[in-house]
Amino acid sequence: MAETLGFFQAWLKNPLRVAAIAPSSRSLANLITSEISRDTGPVIELGPGTGAFTRALIARGVRQEDLALIEFGSEFAAALHFHYPRARTLWMDAARLRAVDLFDGRAAGAVVSGLPLLSMPPRKVIAILTGAFRKMEPDGALYQFTYGPRCPVSLRLLDHLGLEAERIGGTLANLPPAAVYRIRRRHPIPFHFVRFSSRQHVPVE
Ligand SMILES: C[S@@+](CC[C@H](N)C(=O)[O-])C[C@H]1O[C@@H](n2cnc3c(N)ncnc32)[C@H](O)[C@@H]1O
Repeated sequence: MAETLGFFQAWLKNPLRVAAIAPSSRSLANLITSEISRDTGPVIELGPGTGAFTRALIARGVRQEDLALIEFGSEFAAALHFHYPRARTLWMDAARLRAVDLFDGRAAGAVVSGLPLLSMPPRKVIAILTGAFRKMEPDGALYQFTYGPRCPVSLRLLDHLGLEAERIGGTLANLPPAAVYRIRRRHPIPFHFVRFSSRQHVPVE
């Protein structure tokens, strides 16, 4: 209850950044983490807020040491650091992800995102996706939830970045109801090709 109240107060202070009036439900947390296990390796969580998805990841066997929690809200970042002291909590803008070393150079197996991508300008969404895919194994996936009727990353942007999205499910047991998309590279592309290609298409490495 205190968590829900704290979340609501954070939303009142900054509705665009928090972008929801209540924390994500257990049902949504189960759905967005459904393809992740201890075997996935390191996992990056973007915009963990109160940690609803963090709890689900740990319940699925992901070790705190294999978690990087990237949160821009100081109120949430402090609480996450308190509750998950062995995870790496970074109080920062997810758009700067590219600049930080998260797991001593090891690549992540997945990214789970609670970020409000729909309320962000395309330039910021590009920085976030580019940073996230740079930190991941070639076959890694980013899981993103949305309250909207389609993937919150437009087809145009997915094309531009060489990514593809698939809806993996939805839940009515969330306020408001939500759906989850899995976003992956279309084809893992060798680094040298990406760097020196002159095509307009700019795949993320
Ligand atoms: C919809 S809420 C996530 C709710 C979360 N699943 C929960 O149950 O608490 C969005 C979260 O993204 C964070 N956020 C928004 N913009 C961000 C950014 N640029 N970088 C990192 N975190 C951001 C907000 O502070 C908020 O915690």
